[in-house]
Amino acid sequence: MGDRSGASGSRRRRTGSRPSSQGGSGPAAAAEEEVRDVGAGGDAPAPEKDKDGDVDVGSGQWDLRCHRLQDSLFSSDSGFNNYRGILNWCVVMLILSNARLFLENLIKYGILVDPIQVVSLFLKDPYSWPALCLVIGGEAPGCAAAGKKANGGAAQCTVSYPDNLTYRDLYYFLFAPTLCYELNFPRSARIRKRFLLRRLLEMLFLTQLMVGLIQQWMVPTIQNSMKPFKDMDYSRIIERLLKLAVPNHLIWLIFFYWLFHSCLNAVAELMHFGDREFYRDWWNSESVTYFWQNWNIPVHKWCLRHFYKPMLRRGSSKWAARMGVFLASAFFHEYLVSIPLRMFRLWAFTGMMAQIPLAWIVGRFFRGNYGNAAVWLTLIIGQPVAVLMYVHDYYVLNYEAPTAGA
Ligand SMILES: CC(C)(COP(=O)(O)OP(=O)(O)OC[C@H]1O[C@@H](n2cnc3c(N)ncnc32)[C@H](O)[C@@H]1OP(=O)(O)O)[C@@H](O)C(=O)NCCC(=O)NCCS
Repeated sequence: MGDRSGASGSRRRRTGSRPSSQGGSGPAAAAEEEVRDVGAGGDAPAPEKDKDGDVDVGSGQWDLRCHRLQDSLFSSDSGFNNYRGILNWCVVMLILSNARLFLENLIKYGILVDPIQVVSLFLKDPYSWPALCLVIGGEAPGCAAAGKKANGGAAQCTVSYPDNLTYRDLYYFLFAPTLCYELNFPRSARIRKRFLLRRLLEMLFLTQLMVGLIQQWMVPTIQNSMKPFKDMDYSRIIERLLKLAVPNHLIWLIFFYWLFHSCLNAVAELMHFGDREFYRDWWNSESVTYFWQNWNIPVHKWCLRHFYKPMLRRGSSKWAARMGVFLASAFFHEYLVSIPLRMFRLWAFTGMMAQIPLAWIVGRFFRGNYGNAAVWLTLIIGQPVAVLMYVHDYYVLNYEAPTAGA
């Protein structure tokens, strides 16, 4: 009896939870409510109640009633919104379809994962390592010394200018996971060893995972994309692009977690750096603007403090200041890609500058969940376009041009 009354109670709640705007307050709404009341009780005999006040369903014709005025669950009028099971179904389907892709890939290419290959690539050509290795190689002893002192009692003492003009302070800023200098950074009281160990293990595991996924999944797809590009076969190019989008996006997500959660937290923990807001909930972005404000907080804070706000203070309009920031960001994105590839193309630059019209389009035409879907779509599709463009140009420049010349 308790079950039954509970279920009917929940049904009544659902029907009753209609927004009043839909029910309205006019005569039609009143009539509808009347029908509802009649539907709920009607002119059926009033149910008998036991001494606890519960409806006694075992007597008379009351127990035969099984219909009431109510909406189907998928109607928005029903007010029902628990789709947890459907979300789980999506995850199961995703795992199943990717398991099939994984098997197909293995059958087609065998095992391509080779961690030694990556290490040997760097070992073979140590002179073209990024300048970061110089910084770490040259400055590590200083950093270690600074770290030890800072860890001792840095959480308590505050520094004021010009006492901060020391190597220790300089090195602390260089290695701290921030781009914005402060005299007194917020400090954590101690190093949490288990937290640090988890972050370090994540760093190791995720690095291997990313390298493995690139070797096994991305490289063959990219290699197979060269012919459609050469033949300018547009339908095949789009097919390759969509195929590349899945591993590219997955690797990008892993990279996000690896860099912004594992690496930056590990460094911060070691250095007692207290501000751990390296990212915010960009995955809920309903606009492109929100995404750029929340996905890379160290860069965003730098842009705001050293570029955007100074421009606003000097009288620039918001639009001009935003344009200036994206122009600088586009330059650095291009720089980071062009230098290692040793070829100057403007794909990364264009991709970054395209964010401005994109932000306008998404903001103008999409709202709520549609806006969120639009942001995800631009992330999933936009990046592989740039990747394919660079690979294509690199291939033409390094493999086709020399052969043509010969
Ligand atoms: C361009 C960018 C900085 C704009 O940021 P935004 O948050 O949309 O800018 P807003 O106009 O909302 O204002 C931001 C701040 O400026 C302040 N501000 C606004 N007008 C101001 C004015 N006239 N004078 C001073 N400050 C002002 C706001 O109060 C706000 O301050 P708060 O952050 O302390 O709350 C941001 O989109 C960005 O960082 N883009 C580039 C990101 C990037 O390239 N990342 C690379 C990742 S790989």
